[in-house]
Amino acid sequence: MKILGIWDGHDAGAALIKGDKILFAINEERLTRRKLEIAFPVRSIRACLNQTGTACDEIAEIAVSTSDVAKTLSRVIPSLKEEYYQIRRRKKGPERSSVIKKKMKYRLTEYPPSSLTRWVSRRNLRSRLRSLGFESFRLHLTDHHLSHAVPAAVCSGFEKGLVITLDGLGDGLSGSVSRYEKGRLERISGISARHSLGIFFEHVTNLMNMRELEDEGKVMALANYAYPVDDAQNPMMDLIRVKGLSMRCRHGSLGMYEALKKILWHFPSEQFAHMAQRTLERRILELAKNAMNATGMNHLSLAGGIFSNVKVNRLLRMLPDLRQCHVFPHMGDGGLALGAALVVNHQLNLVRQVPLTDLCLGPRYRDEEIKDVLKTSGLSFRKSREMVKETAEIIARGGIVFWFQGRMELGPRALGARSILARPDSLAIKDALNLRLKKRVWYQPFCPAMREADAAEILADYDGPLNRFMTMAYMVREDKRDCVRGVINVDGSCRPQIVGDENPIYRDLLEEIRRLTGHGILLNTSLNLHGEPVVCSPQDAVKTMLDTGNEYMAIGNFLVENRK
Ligand SMILES: [Fe+2]
Repeated sequence: MKILGIWDGHDAGAALIKGDKILFAINEERLTRRKLEIAFPVRSIRACLNQTGTACDEIAEIAVSTSDVAKTLSRVIPSLKEEYYQIRRRKKGPERSSVIKKKMKYRLTEYPPSSLTRWVSRRNLRSRLRSLGFESFRLHLTDHHLSHAVPAAVCSGFEKGLVITLDGLGDGLSGSVSRYEKGRLERISGISARHSLGIFFEHVTNLMNMRELEDEGKVMALANYAYPVDDAQNPMMDLIRVKGLSMRCRHGSLGMYEALKKILWHFPSEQFAHMAQRTLERRILELAKNAMNATGMNHLSLAGGIFSNVKVNRLLRMLPDLRQCHVFPHMGDGGLALGAALVVNHQLNLVRQVPLTDLCLGPRYRDEEIKDVLKTSGLSFRKSREMVKETAEIIARGGIVFWFQGRMELGPRALGARSILARPDSLAIKDALNLRLKKRVWYQPFCPAMREADAAEILADYDGPLNRFMTMAYMVREDKRDCVRGVINVDGSCRPQIVGDENPIYRDLLEEIRRLTGHGILLNTSLNLHGEPVVCSPQDAVKTMLDTGNEYMAIGNFLVENRK
């Protein structure tokens, strides 16, 4: 039985699963080419069907996450979310009515679902799905935090453990704590939307003139440059407290915003970022410790947008009583389509484990399709019989290579399917990448990819198992920092992709790089231009190559050169 999962909010998308297999999953932004797309994911749904050869009438179960008041309203009046999208992404300036709208948004989003919102959401979704050709299906509305928690649990590989979800909010909650045992997920705490760590960090991001729900990683990166502030002197600690398995905010959403604004008035921005990061770390560690003490469980699985914070995840991983920590790799709302499908699969089919060894779950393009695109591109290209060897040689001598191989990755990280690859030990290459392509802020580092066999030699706190999906920070050994100077933070940490056998051509490339340079490490960053979604199709890749003037691309079996 195939189940289609849909998410029609921030970073919309669709996923198709069958039994314990994820057949296909994609986010709408990759197809509309609009970052963190919010529109109903028509193209993703069609891609799920077309790429798996599935007809609409083969889908008997469709799962859609979230039916709270704000989500339902945005289904009925899509222009509401479009306007928020334009303002949030700084495409449109605030207007006179913006303050009132902001107040309404924060007030409305806190309301949980009701029988009325479920009825309206169902009606709206049914009509949309019928217009796409679905006739006979059961529609399941899945709870927001359950749609974060179930994938965290079933993809963790743990027989039993704790599952913590934390985000801005959804369906009246900003977090949850659950036990997962013998295939049953039991929620033991729900954290109210009013007391949201995610909204706290969202406000911090916004106040620093960054885009909330998008630039939180920049806040985390900037925090590294602050003089440490003692926790006792950190005024943010007082704004949010942990009580048992719950959170307590001193103010409501808007009161919190005003309180943070006052704090920012007194501190430089890097100090502000540092205090926010410390508050986040302290409170999440307290919550996790309380949950471990209350349940006696020592395996932890995490999901929700907050767990894109790799420094928090590192601290959790290092808790002395914890045996293992897993972060669901598409932890934010972009993972809710897959999450909703897995919830229904768990409830109807009792599927308790879904192995997640590979995230390359998107479209694949045949060599003939790629060749047709290259022929009309004006770029010089040829078939390479030794793609790995030739690419490694270009990189070893300082070239930057667009790497387009196999099915596209799901989620926020490039994992060696749609990546830009370069040497990790050169500050000049890092600067060239920034100037020409990525336009990252100066304090945001690139990331390394390394072979599993080399990880312990490079990372001081590498404890296995594989961290395939770049969900954790690690510290680089002192004597190895020169080899990775283009991909580490100022504090010596990095966010590595540790590559096993799941992607053989990428693993072989790392091996070849090791043979040529002495270290099996690459700088790996997503194949996209600044502000654009990651490349999906050969057309997107060629366009990016032409727009940037980058010299080399290894796409399928073709080596492309941009001689202009
Ligand atoms: Fe969420």
